[in-house]
Amino acid sequence: MDQPRANEIRHILRGQDFDLELIEELFKRIDTLDEILRDPIKLAELQNNGRGRQVFTVFYEPSTRTRMSFEAAANNLGFAVVGTENAREFSSAAKGETIEDTIRVMSGYYPAAIVMRHHEDGAATRAAAASNVPIINAGDGRGQHPTQALLDLYTLHRELGRTKDLTVLVGGDLANGRTARSLVYLLSKFNNIEFIFVAPESLKMSDDIKLHLDERGIKYTETEDLENLLPEADVVYWTRVQKERLATGVNYEQVKKQYELSKNHLALMKKDAIIMHPLPRINEIQIEVDEDPRAAYFRQAAYGLPVRMALYEWVTHLL
Ligand code: CP
Repeated sequence: MDQPRANEIRHILRGQDFDLELIEELFKRIDTLDEILRDPIKLAELQNNGRGRQVFTVFYEPSTRTRMSFEAAANNLGFAVVGTENAREFSSAAKGETIEDTIRVMSGYYPAAIVMRHHEDGAATRAAAASNVPIINAGDGRGQHPTQALLDLYTLHRELGRTKDLTVLVGGDLANGRTARSLVYLLSKFNNIEFIFVAPESLKMSDDIKLHLDERGIKYTETEDLENLLPEADVVYWTRVQKERLATGVNYEQVKKQYELSKNHLALMKKDAIIMHPLPRINEIQIEVDEDPRAAYFRQAAYGLPVRMALYEWVTHLL
């Protein structure tokens, strides 16, 4: 992100807002935090940093990984957590309150940050405009999921030792998957990245991303055929069909069966490639794939904890 002045509010809204200098600084800190997580004495010391402050987590859509890792990250830094899951029902949104009013009220309670997941595209940007404290976008509709993108990028750093010179196959529901969108935006900042988008016609990557890649001269290929280009990929980033966001007329049962990664696909992949998935997975990666060392998705989910600790540190000027 453009480096804000010391007193400026640091929001996290879109994958492309992380700049290379900040990513380098964050990755160093995440490496350190990952070590601290294994050291109870250092972890207890770390908890002094946020003591006396609190973060708010407001989730209008279901979540396992994002909410729990953000709440665990807050606890690890000493922040108290005040939050609501199912905010569509359990907050005054159920009575018709706007995001702007909700956030204005919440920011008046002086949290160190507000972590928000919302079902509408652009909700995080609207929240940021109404907020006096940092807003962290934990996923907004079909829009973006920037903290997932950073943890995905960190996964490449940890698993492959590089975030450049990669052919990245991104597949599944590219029309509705916000994690894929944020990751493509973020990866487009790095040298020598090439994308292969694998999706049925009804779930193709949207035009804004393709325009962004065209403007930057980044090569991408679109195909419905997974097997043909699988051997070229260094990274296979697989995603779930977003049943809750499918356009009218798209048959969930039909598209869901179209691309299932199985052991047969492993035989086609490079020996040193990795398979990533933001999770949850339904049927799109068969369980038999999990035992292959290239299946990185559970390690990827675990990186979310130190990544989100570092992001709290950054937005609260501890970093
Ligand atoms: N990857 C991800 O956003 O998972 P959750 O929906 O469980 O938070």
